[in-house]
This record gives sequence, structure tokens and C-alpha cells, in this order.
Amino acid sequence: MEKLDLSKVDLLEFMKNFFKRRFRTDSPLAFVKVFGCQQNEADTEKIKGFLFSVGFKFVDEPFLADFILFNTCAVRHTAENRILSHIGNLKKLKKMNPNVFISVCGCMVEQESILEIIRDKYPYVDFICGAKSVEKFPELLYEKITGQKIFDSNINFPIYQDCKFKSWIPIISGCNNFCSYCIVPYVRGREKSVDYRKILNDCESCVKNGSKIITLLGQNVNSYGFEDVKFSDLLQKIDKIDGDFTLRFMTSHPKDFNENLVDVLSECKHFSGHLHLPVQSGNDRILKLMNRKYKIEQYIEKVKYARKKLANLVVTSDIIVGFPGETEKEFEDTIDLVKKLKFASVFSFVYSPRKGTLAYEMGDSIPHEEKIRRISYLIETQAKISEDVLSDFVGKNLLATVENVSDDVSLARTDSNLLVKIDGKFTPGDRFYVKILKSGRNSLFGAKI
Ligand code: SAH
Ligand code: SF4
Ligand code: F3S
Repeated sequence: MEKLDLSKVDLLEFMKNFFKRRFRTDSPLAFVKVFGCQQNEADTEKIKGFLFSVGFKFVDEPFLADFILFNTCAVRHTAENRILSHIGNLKKLKKMNPNVFISVCGCMVEQESILEIIRDKYPYVDFICGAKSVEKFPELLYEKITGQKIFDSNINFPIYQDCKFKSWIPIISGCNNFCSYCIVPYVRGREKSVDYRKILNDCESCVKNGSKIITLLGQNVNSYGFEDVKFSDLLQKIDKIDGDFTLRFMTSHPKDFNENLVDVLSECKHFSGHLHLPVQSGNDRILKLMNRKYKIEQYIEKVKYARKKLANLVVTSDIIVGFPGETEKEFEDTIDLVKKLKFASVFSFVYSPRKGTLAYEMGDSIPHEEKIRRISYLIETQAKISEDVLSDFVGKNLLATVENVSDDVSLARTDSNLLVKIDGKFTPGDRFYVKILKSGRNSLFGAKI
């Protein structure tokens, strides 16, 4: 390929003109759909920032769009199937309008097997950009369109936030943990921490622009490290930013979540009071096979310490059922654990074998119907516990941010991430104390005070 050195303005200008000509309009339309975790949400905000900077407006329906983009997830087989069927649905659209430009990005297309499927079955996909290359999306798109390579284009553009009062701030990308079931380290690569000065700048400008909820993102935020700044140092620095905002982070890996971090959190005035600490299983043998590097007793001690030090702490978790070889007794250990620890909520998943991971070699011994029975029982057990946990908040005053407004009811989230319905019409982004009057199955009910 011929090399070309373009300055920042040139690349954006080039793209703007290219799309204007291709779609024969001054304001082309883009449909962007995101699958997967918050990391993908954050990447999507970057891609949308670029698209917006080159003249796109966003629409909610693919058939209205000139440019279609899916940002994909690979974590479970079901997610991939769903995405592939979405891509399949675009065939008709492309036939009706061959000018439409289809891009598939993210974790799923970091796998050779998926690239083959796309080549064979969905040849009308115009552009593919894997999760590891998302920072280079504009350059790679330029290369695809022109057949010419760019080096150091250095383009700069703001991210595009769908929701102005909620900000995702990636602090560490990739993962080094290689939990045996998980594909993320393969599709996202090794851990890399972002310069803390950039993170602080990003947080400051978000708060200045009216952001109320800052969520620091990483597959394992606890292993953040840039120069001599560790995760707890980073939290202390962000906590010094003036303004009315709450600080969340996810995900914490239990092996690295320690008492020192809890002590630091107890001094942070902006800490949200929400801790997402995925346990994955309540049984030591399974945890070992999962390569999680903690024992269940250690996990319990960590949660106990955090609850003792942090008032009104809300703890949530992730659990996988049906890991290869998980016995009924081992599954019951997981049930016992959720009963004992009373998480506010649990994201539960049926084990999905992922080619290339260590667990893939262990087979997939639990029949599908049995996995479904286990997950249903877990969900049912947890539902009662969630209801119980919510009822403990009745009578308390909690800070909350309004997210959605419909008719005469507003839906808000407490800083600690509990859903609260409030009578009255407020504006999304409003933030105030709510007195909790009642609790239900999934949410609280309260009044502004
Ligand atoms: N880095 C985070 C999140 C990883 S993906 C963490 O360490 O917790 C989010 C969740 O998906 C995981 O917590 C796990 O519960 C689930 N998950 C990951 N791989 C899976 C698989 N192969 N099958 C089923 N669930 C899986
Ligand atoms: Fe996957 Fe484990 Fe890394 Fe989380 S910590 S992304 S579960 S390998
Ligand atoms: Fe999915 Fe990639 Fe996130 S695999 S869960 S979108 S890191």
C-alpha cells in the first residue's frame, strides 16, 4: 500500500466530502447498535464522535440509515448468534439500497472463525474493525475506502455521548487474568492502563459539562497502574474534583479487591456506594477450575469488611452456572452463597463454551436443560433476596439522579445504582435526595425531599 501522511483536518475533511458524495446529501444518517458491556458503550461513543464530526446524524432504524454500524460482543455464544442474525437481516436492505455502508466492529470480529463466517455468509459487510483497533477506526476506514495507508494522522474529535449526565471513562483496557471460561483476554488483548493525567482531564471536563455519574471502566479496574499511580491513588485524585457527581467503577476482580482499597473508598466523598464484585461460583473447586485465584471464604471476608466500613453499600455480582463438571452439590454451594451474602442483584449466566479458552478443553458436560434448571432456580432464589434487600432501604434518604421521565412518574437511580420511582415530572439529569417510602420487587418508591 502507498503511504500517505494526512493532517488532522485533512482526514476529517476528506471523510466529510467522501460521505457527502457517496450518499448525495449534506447530512448523511447513521444507525449504530451496540452489544456487550460498558467497555463497548465507551468505544461506541468514540466511533459516534468520529461519525458526528464528519457530518452524520443518528437515527433509530437501520432502514433509514446510509451508514450502519454494529459494535459486537463475543462473551457468549448466544450473543454472537443474535448479532449474526442481525447482520443477516441487513441482506434485504443492502439489496434494496446497495449504497448503504455496513460496518461490523468490536470483540466478535477479533476471531478468525467469525471473519470466515462473515466472508462466506455475509459478503455484503463493507468494513470490519476489531475491538483492539477501535482507536484507529478513522484511519482504518480511510484505508478501506481509498486503499491508501495513513500514519500518525493525529486526528482529534470529541466523543459523542447519548446521555450527557452519564460518562464512561475507560481507565484500563484488555485483561491479563485468563479466567478459564472467558474470551475477553483473547479479543481485547493484554492490560494497558491509560495515563492518569488524561483520566483526570476527562473526568474534569465531564463534570464541567454537567455529568453527574462518572463510571471508571476496565475488565479489572483494581489492577490499574500508570507510572506510580495505583487504582486507589487514582480514586483519591478524582475524588478531589469539585462538583456534584458520583463516582462508580467496574469491574473489580475479587482477587485484587482489598482492605486498603475499602479504606480509601471510605474517605472518598464522591464514592457511589455501589460495588460490583463478580463471584462467578460459590464453590472452591469450581473457582479453581475457573482460574479465579480466590477462595470463597476470602471473598466473603472481603464483602464483610466492605460492608462494615462503607455505610449503605450495595453489592452486586455475576454468576455462571453449569461450568464443566459442576455437580449438584457445587451448584448448591452457589445458592448457599447468594443466600448468605444477600447481593442486591446478580447477573446470572449459563456457561457458554468459547473456543480458544482453557475451559473449552474441559468439554461442556452439563446438559442444556440442566443448565436452564439451575439458572432458573438461581434467578428465583435471588429475586426473593433482592426484594428483601430493597426493603431494608425504606425510611432512608438516598441521593439519586433522574434518568427517564414518563407521564407523572420519574425513574431515577440512587448513587448506589438502585432503581427508584418518584412521583412527579422532573428532568433527566436532575439530582436530589429522595426519601424512600416503599419497596417493590425490582425497585424502590420515594419522594423528593
Ligand atoms: N471482567 C469482568 C466481566 C467479564 S464479562 C469480570 O471479571 O467479572 C461479564 C460476565 O460474563 C462475567 O463476569 C461472567 O460472569 C460472564 N461470562 C464470561 N464468560 C462467560 C462464558 N463463557 N459463559 C457464560 N458467562 C460468561
Ligand atoms: Fe474475563 Fe476474568 Fe478478565 Fe473478567 S477478569 S474479563 S472474567 S478473564
Ligand atoms: Fe463482550 Fe467484549 Fe465486553 S466480549 S462483554 S463486549 S469486552
